[in-house]
Amino acid sequence: MQNLGPIPELYVSADSAQKLKVEAGNLPSHDLSARQICDLELLMNGGFFPLKGFLGQADYDSVVDSMRLKDGTLWPMPVTLDVSEAFADKVEVGQDIALRDQEGVILAVLSVTDKWVPNKAVEAEKVFGADDPAHPAVNYLHNKAGKVYLGGPITGLTPPVHYDFKARRDTPNELRAFFRKMGWRRIVAFQTRNPLHRAHQELTFRAAREAQANLLIHPVVGMTKPGDVDHFTRVRCYEAVLDQYPSSTTHLSLLNLAMRMAGPREALWHAIIRKNHGLTHFIVGRDHAGPGKNSQGKDFYDPYAAQDLVRQHQAEIGIEMVDFKQMVYVQEKAQYFPVDEVPAGSTVLDISGTELRRRLREGLEIPEWFSFPEVVKELRKTSPARSKQGFTVFFTGFSGSGKSTIANALMVKLMEMGGRPVTLLDGDVVRKHLSSELGFSKEHRDINIRRIGYVASEITKNGGIAICAPIAPYATTRREVREMIESFGAFIEVHVATSIDECERRDRKGLYKLAREGKIKEFTGISDPYDVPASPELRVDTEGLDVDTCAHQVILKLESMGLIKG
Ligand code: PPS
Repeated sequence: MQNLGPIPELYVSADSAQKLKVEAGNLPSHDLSARQICDLELLMNGGFFPLKGFLGQADYDSVVDSMRLKDGTLWPMPVTLDVSEAFADKVEVGQDIALRDQEGVILAVLSVTDKWVPNKAVEAEKVFGADDPAHPAVNYLHNKAGKVYLGGPITGLTPPVHYDFKARRDTPNELRAFFRKMGWRRIVAFQTRNPLHRAHQELTFRAAREAQANLLIHPVVGMTKPGDVDHFTRVRCYEAVLDQYPSSTTHLSLLNLAMRMAGPREALWHAIIRKNHGLTHFIVGRDHAGPGKNSQGKDFYDPYAAQDLVRQHQAEIGIEMVDFKQMVYVQEKAQYFPVDEVPAGSTVLDISGTELRRRLREGLEIPEWFSFPEVVKELRKTSPARSKQGFTVFFTGFSGSGKSTIANALMVKLMEMGGRPVTLLDGDVVRKHLSSELGFSKEHRDINIRRIGYVASEITKNGGIAICAPIAPYATTRREVREMIESFGAFIEVHVATSIDECERRDRKGLYKLAREGKIKEFTGISDPYDVPASPELRVDTEGLDVDTCAHQVILKLESMGLIKG
């Protein structure tokens, strides 16, 4: 029997919150990351019920190991508060800390019961199935999350503020109240991080029919896979297709979840979250919350492993899975079918996500059988053809390898072509204007590269061309910059592969000599490391080629990627 009574939240009353906020002003403060804000919101509003805070160590170990809290309750995903070592050193177990949003507003108080250094390799293996940095959550775990975890109960003061699509966001209790008011007893949730196309519509119609249920379109708008269509565009797309659904049976609500792309475990987590939102049924399709390919080019998870895991636990969670095979279009019937129900001998059509992105990028036709004209129009607005989008060319290589010279030549060639503004963020220039206080330690180099990445991402977002030419010796930092930029446009990594011997022989600035004499410390290639890019978009060999030819190779690459018209 469906229980639509209120679910416990972690908020205190408005009066207590007011008092606590004043007191919490004196506590040590942790500034929450975007992902932690998403987690905190769902902890506080009951979306993560029965969790009462960020996991302590015993619960964490048990969740990582067996998908259960230490009391045996099913909970597949570690919801932890990662902090830096420097911050952790200032915090004692038994102490309260204030959790603030990015503007400094205190959202909650955490009573710290546990502080520990997790074994992230084990967490990656057990939770995500492989300690492979190609998995976005594993990459986050190792390269973005702090080294130390804090755990303990939360006292909620105020929810994070959202300025966008306010009317479309519902807490679990708001949804439960809505279902009560509408008299909906059986409701099936459709989880998505993509725009809705006709296949999704057919799948949701069928699911509602099969479950004899009302339909909740419940897209994730917190954090999804890097490179996904941004949630602003997606919500406009959802709103555009809502007319296709009978309004008396369907509701659209946005879920501020930070996905981990953990496939089967994540599907289970999604089912629990939906149960908490008052749903009775939950759709699990092909490759639910799949992260794509691993470093060996293979899928991380079997495409139907998520369905198997949810099937095993659905009774315990108290939600019924509606499982679907992949939906494909059958030309002769002008209709969508699950792939295992396609009439024999018929012509099957399908457009993959990659193919759709290619068509958008190249301004090619997207057929009516695949999507709705309103959706395609929205997608075209935010994904103009590649030749009209911004992009970043990121040169990397040793000092004196020729990065700046080629970058300058490239800039001039692009300016000659016209059409888009071009900005050169050269290593030396950036160090003068943006990073004058920084040295060459790993920490300082990383800060420098992140600054360059940030500026380049803003330029790319606004339709310009950014050319960067720092040494950027660390692969993980280059990847971070790539991810920052790829949400807005293309990122072309160009390895200027001049050997260290050749750079030293040229020694155009006389720095190698000083580095050899020990007068410059931490000099890249001499006394400091350089991670050679494993798979850059382009590698240019400057030995034996003139600058013009090198710059031309970059131009040819940009043409082949559709970024500039030939
Ligand atoms: S980094 O690692 O990407 O932050 O470096 P970058 O900002 O590109 O700065 C490199 C330029 O600074 C000069 N320089 C050094 N390079 C490497 N190691 C050490 N210790 C160092 N000290 C000074 C050098 O001239 C680099 O210029 P480029 O343009 O690369 O030749």
